[in-house]
Amino acid sequence: MEITSYFLIMVFTLSGLAIGYGENSFNVLDFGVIGDGKTDDSNAFVKAWRSACGAAGGAPTLTIPARKSYLLKSIRFTGPCRSNSIRVQFEGSIVAPNSRSQWTGCESAKWMQFVNVKGLVITGTGQIDGRGYIWWRKKPNQFNHTEHNNGRTSTCKAPNALHFNKCDNLRLEGFTSRNSPNKHISIQNSNGVSISNLRIDAPGNSPNTDGIDISSSSQVNIKDSFIRTGDDCIAIKGGSSYINITHVTCGPGHGISIGSLGFGSGSQNVEEVHVRNCDLTGSTNGARIKTWPRGNPGYARAITFEHIRVSSCKYPIIIDQGYHELLTGAKVKVSDVTFRDFRGTSMTPVAIKLDCSELSCNNIVLDNINLSSARPGKPVTSFCRNVHGKAISTVVPHVPCLSSS
Ligand SMILES: *[C@@H]1O[C@H](CO)[C@@H](O)[C@H](O)[C@H]1NC(C)=O
Ligand SMILES: *[C@@H]1O[C@H](CO)[C@@H](O)[C@H](O)[C@H]1NC(C)=O
Repeated sequence: MEITSYFLIMVFTLSGLAIGYGENSFNVLDFGVIGDGKTDDSNAFVKAWRSACGAAGGAPTLTIPARKSYLLKSIRFTGPCRSNSIRVQFEGSIVAPNSRSQWTGCESAKWMQFVNVKGLVITGTGQIDGRGYIWWRKKPNQFNHTEHNNGRTSTCKAPNALHFNKCDNLRLEGFTSRNSPNKHISIQNSNGVSISNLRIDAPGNSPNTDGIDISSSSQVNIKDSFIRTGDDCIAIKGGSSYINITHVTCGPGHGISIGSLGFGSGSQNVEEVHVRNCDLTGSTNGARIKTWPRGNPGYARAITFEHIRVSSCKYPIIIDQGYHELLTGAKVKVSDVTFRDFRGTSMTPVAIKLDCSELSCNNIVLDNINLSSARPGKPVTSFCRNVHGKAISTVVPHVPCLSSS
């Protein structure tokens, strides 16, 4: 008897250590989380986060266990944490309130945000459900809202599901995000980001539901993910550089976009973005660079899109500096952009649209392109304005503004 219980204790202790339930492991269920999908678990999650974030020693783990559903309202996980890395083991599902009146704290337009957390890893097979349909149905996409506790009236805006600000060395892997009210994942001011094996899913007609949005960040690697949305699959915005996007399947949605640039405050520069081996199906655009005609100066340069499969894209290849307006007064310069090895079909007759401002786009290279119409027997063409560059190997449709070599 005694030997048996001693043995059991030993087994539990050892297996506990092996899977990380040491003193540096924190389970949200130990902080009063209910996990019935109806009770607001936000406060308990914040308590659990504070404990994990305040833990000294080797990488603390915050566990969100499987087979439960956690209802969270707007919530902020703040650092800096004591340890220089922190892991969130995310199983089960996190759900948003399913009516607007239940939302609180959403004037920030963020649902879950991590701020100033270094070395954050969020991994697991968990699911996030933003229940965006309560936001998409009506316009405007915001409403006035009175907080119950203090009677203050604030404006609630459709929130992004997951937002990261100043999270260097961030890793996101394995989980699913569905039906975000606004963008699914937005990352800002973060260097060293690795994203893999994510699944992002929202209807093709849902407004503003970008898959992954990167701004003012560098050294970012996005790979092996499936993204279906109503807006950009991935958008790379101002202040971003050294971004790799590999083996991502997009569609429906608006494709993989650089920009838009030239709008708003902050850096309007993007450079060293490399998109490889991606599939775009039924998206409005394939590979896009878009800039606003008026506004702030900036540049988009050293960008490659290669080994891209497109299927029924409206504009498989597009540089659009006329975005929403006239071409005069543009201050964003586009140069050193290569589109290499594109195959597939276009929904519109203009499969390649290179529409640059008076500043002109320089060193635009099209190499080994073969696009045909998604409507059998119909021709496809190209459009050019203010473009300098060259066509290498076979380029179909022909792009007359490029010199051939
Ligand atoms: C991007 O890809 C290039 C070439 O494969 C590699 O040298 C570079 O380290 C990658 N950058 C990131 C941030 O993963
Ligand atoms: C382009 O693709 C079409 C259909 O996929 C094919 O029939 C055609 O031969 C290709 N053209 C070139 C120049 O590779």
